[in-house]
Amino acid sequence: MLLDELVPTLRQYWPALLGLAAVLYLLSNKFHNGLNKYPGPLLAAYTDWWRLFTVWSWRVEFTHIALHRKRGDIVRLGPNSLSFGNPQAIKQIYGLNKGFVKSEFYPVQQAMDKDGARLQSLFSTTWEDYHARYRRCVNGAFSMSSLVSYEPLMDSTMDYFLDRTQKLFADTGRTCDFTRWLQFFAFDVVGEFTWSKRLGFLEKNDDVDGIIDFLANFFSYAALVGQIPFFDVLLNKNPIKRYMMKLGFYKKVFPVTLFALSRADERADEMAKIREYGLPEKTLAGDNGRGVDLMTKFTQAQHDHPDVMTDKQVLTSCTSMVFAGSDTTAISLSSTFYFMLRHPRVLRKLYAEIDQAVRDGVIADRPNGAVSWSESQRLRYLDAVIQESFRMHPAVGLPLERIVPPQGVEICGEHIPGGTIVGVSPWVIHRRADVFGANPDEYRPERWLEVGPEKLKEMKGCMLQFGAGSRTCIGKNISLLELYKLVPSVLRRFEVSPNFFRRTCFGLGEAL
Ligand code: HEM
Repeated sequence: MLLDELVPTLRQYWPALLGLAAVLYLLSNKFHNGLNKYPGPLLAAYTDWWRLFTVWSWRVEFTHIALHRKRGDIVRLGPNSLSFGNPQAIKQIYGLNKGFVKSEFYPVQQAMDKDGARLQSLFSTTWEDYHARYRRCVNGAFSMSSLVSYEPLMDSTMDYFLDRTQKLFADTGRTCDFTRWLQFFAFDVVGEFTWSKRLGFLEKNDDVDGIIDFLANFFSYAALVGQIPFFDVLLNKNPIKRYMMKLGFYKKVFPVTLFALSRADERADEMAKIREYGLPEKTLAGDNGRGVDLMTKFTQAQHDHPDVMTDKQVLTSCTSMVFAGSDTTAISLSSTFYFMLRHPRVLRKLYAEIDQAVRDGVIADRPNGAVSWSESQRLRYLDAVIQESFRMHPAVGLPLERIVPPQGVEICGEHIPGGTIVGVSPWVIHRRADVFGANPDEYRPERWLEVGPEKLKEMKGCMLQFGAGSRTCIGKNISLLELYKLVPSVLRRFEVSPNFFRRTCFGLGEAL
C-alpha cells in the first residue's frame, strides 16, 4: 500500500530528492565534528575533492604555506582534515605514546601479494602494535653505529658514480641532466645497501626496466588517490581484482620485486644458513671491511625474531627500501646541488672550505676525490648547506597525516575531536620566520651558523624532513651518509656549473 504511493512520488520527484540528499551530505560535511570553526578554503569544508585537485596542481606545498600565512596555525583542508602550522603541534601529534595512528593515506601505497592480500610495509602499515614489533626487529640495522657496515657499500657505488661522471660528462664536455643522474645514483646505491648489488642505472645511463618511471607514476597515484583513499579500493584493490589475483589471472609483478626475488634466489643458501644459525656480532658490525647489506640484516632479524619476520616480510622489507629510500634521497641530493648552483656565493664558499680542509689534512687527498663520512662531519659549512637545503626543499610535500585517538586531544590549545585527520607539513613548518629567522623563503646556509646553541636546538627540533616520533624515517642515517659523502666528493673532483661539469680538478684550491 505504502509502496504504491511511494514509488510514483519517488519517480516524480527523484531529481529534487537527489539534490536534497546532496545538499544534506555537503552540509553534514561542513559542520562535521564542529570543524567549521576553523578557517580554510571554502570548498575544502564541503568536500575532499578540493584536496585532490590541489595536489593535482603538483605545487600543493606552496598552497599550504600561503594558506597558513593567511589563515593562521590551524587550517581546514577537508571536511575531516586539519593542517597545523605551529611547532607545538609536532610534539603533540607525533610524540611517543600519544595514541595517533597513520591515516588511510598510507595503505594506498601497499602492494598486494599474489593472493590479493595487502602487504604491510614498515612505512605503510597503520597497525601500530604490529609496526612497533616490526620496527624493534629491524631498528638495529639502521642505527648510527651500523653506518660503519654501510660505508664500504656506499663507497663502491660512489666511486663508480664519480668515474662514470668523469667518463660520460667531464671528459666529453657533454651537459649532464644532473637531477636524472643523481636519481640513477640514489636508486643504484639503495640496491647496493639492500642487496650488495646496484640496480644498473649508472652503468646503462638509463631507467632500467622502467623502474623510475614506474615509481614516479606510483607516487603520483598515491599522492592523488591518497586524498580520497576510498578510490584506491575501487580502482586498484577492489574485490574483483583481488579475486582474479587469487585465481592467478593477474600476474603483474613490480620490476623492483622481480629484482628482489632474483637476489633472494641467488643467495638462497647463504640466507638459509643465516636464518638457521645467525651471524656473529662482529660480522654484522662490518668487521670484514666489505660492508653488510640489509638483506643479510633482515634475515638475521628473522633468525632472532621468527615470530615477526617471515620470508615474505624479509622480501617486503627489501623492496620497500627502494620505494622509501631512493626518490627521497634523489630529491634531497638534487635540491642541495640546485640551491648551490643558484647561489654561486654558497658554492664558492663550500669549495673553499673543502680545499682548506684538504690543505689542513682534515680530508685525505685521495686520487678519486672521495671524502669519507668522518671527514665530512668536520665540515661546518657543508652541514649548514645540507640543513638549509632540507629546510627549503624537504622531499615530502604533504602533511604527515595522523588520526586523532577516539577520546580526542588538545593540539595548540584546541580540543580536536577523535577521528579527525591532522598533520603538519614539513614545508609549512620549515618556512616559519619565528623559528628560522628573517626571510625564511631565502636560501641562506649562514642562518645555521649564526645562532647560539639554544636557538640551534629549537631550529633542529622543527626540522621535519625525516618526520618525527615513532614513525620517523628509519633510513635517516643511511641517507645522511649518502648526502654528506657524495656532495663534497663531487665538489672535490669536479668543477660544477649550471650547464655542465667544466673540467676535473684534482688539485687544491683551483679557482672557479
Ligand atoms: C633524504 C632521504 C629521505 C627522506 C627525506 C625521507 C623521509 C621520510 C619521512 C618524512 C618519513 C616519515 C613519513 C611519515 O611520517 O609519514 C620516512 C619514513 C620512512 N623512511 Fe625515509 N626518507 C629518506 C630516506 C630513506 C632511506 C634511505 C630509507 C631506507 C633505506 C628510508 C626508509 C623509510 C622507512 C622504512 C620509513 C617508515 C618508517 C616507519 O614508519 O617506521 N628512508 N622517510
